[in-house]
Amino acid sequence: MKPDSEQLAYLKEMAIAAASHSYSPYSKFRVGAAVMGDSGQAYSACNVENASFGLTQCAERAALTAAISAGESPGSMPYLVLYIPGQQAHPPCGACRQVMRELMSRDSVVYSFCDSDDMRSWSASDYLPDPFMPENLTG
Ligand code: THU
Repeated sequence: MKPDSEQLAYLKEMAIAAASHSYSPYSKFRVGAAVMGDSGQAYSACNVENASFGLTQCAERAALTAAISAGESPGSMPYLVLYIPGQQAHPPCGACRQVMRELMSRDSVVYSFCDSDDMRSWSASDYLPDPFMPENLTG
């Protein structure tokens, strides 16, 4: 499923605003993410690091957690936009891909923006083929 250009522009603005709040004193790598809920409401978050490095929270998973916490249904979210400042669009990390696959819709699309015209996008089957899913726990 593809967002219309207005939805995409709105999510990008939210991701840019979230990245400006990034707490990333160790990596200095700012990340913002915004996810569209099935309700049409959008949720954003930034990466939040910690002096105990392993406790770092990625922006994408934080945005998805905000969406679930607000009542969006797991498996329903159609689009997520990532924004990372710089001239090159970056991919999401593997841990975020696993969580996106379970919480977003099966035909979801993830977009990655930066400060140049470089933009990347992935369908769910692109960003994580052959995923480990809830049904694997029972089947
Ligand atoms: N980071 C994210 O927020 N999302 C990703 O998909 C990749 C990495 C954050 C974690 C850490 O704060 C910084 O970027 C460098 O890895």
